[in-house]
Amino acid sequence: MKYKIFKNKEQASKYVSDLIVKSITQKPNLNLGLATGSTPILTYDFLTQAFENENVDFKNVKTFNLDEYKDLKIENKNSYHFFMNKYLFSKVNININNTFFPKSNFNYDEFIQKNGGIDLQILGIGQNGHIGFNEPGSKKNSKTRIVDLTKSTIKANAKHFQDESEVPIQAYSMGLETIFKAKKIILLAFGNSKKEIIKELKKIDEFSENIPASILYEHKDVTIILDEEANSDL
Ligand code: PGA
Repeated sequence: MKYKIFKNKEQASKYVSDLIVKSITQKPNLNLGLATGSTPILTYDFLTQAFENENVDFKNVKTFNLDEYKDLKIENKNSYHFFMNKYLFSKVNININNTFFPKSNFNYDEFIQKNGGIDLQILGIGQNGHIGFNEPGSKKNSKTRIVDLTKSTIKANAKHFQDESEVPIQAYSMGLETIFKAKKIILLAFGNSKKEIIKELKKIDEFSENIPASILYEHKDVTIILDEEANSDL
């Protein structure tokens, strides 16, 4: 697992966007795993700029999102479908039929593998160490499934809702095994609020169910991208 530290989240996000652009240039039908949350927004902004200024072609790209709230209509402005349309899909020439999310009655894991697997997976990390919505206690071999959100996740995500009571208590999430199968993984963590979990992650060097992101130690191609605020060495 490699760490790359950038001065700020702008520089870090530009690096990630450039990497995605390079990957699409090398493989126009890239299978791209995407994350939601505040962390990847700047990356999506830079990708939009790359589409406008450098003619990056998303026509044959397929995207696979990590998660989606259960019991929230996809038109709801807090759904992850809405988020992705707002920040990326409506701004580039992606074919909306090539964008996928976990949902009920859909064997997402089999579907991803049938499509050739994920080439590049973008991840955020929760303050409790979750990736996707794989909360502490998630098993290493977990598949895409319905998960109960922890109190800390509901609290952290309440900022996007009018009231904490409106945050769904369950979600569909890719499993840890699903994420692990991606060929290349980039995890982003920005800001002071991520410093503590990055410190915890650095303390261990093998998988611990308490910190689901620690599964990444066993993967052969993972880069953790931090800004200076999230870098616990400082
Ligand atoms: P954030 O969420 O980007 O809004 O901090 C990350 C996550 O919970 O995975």
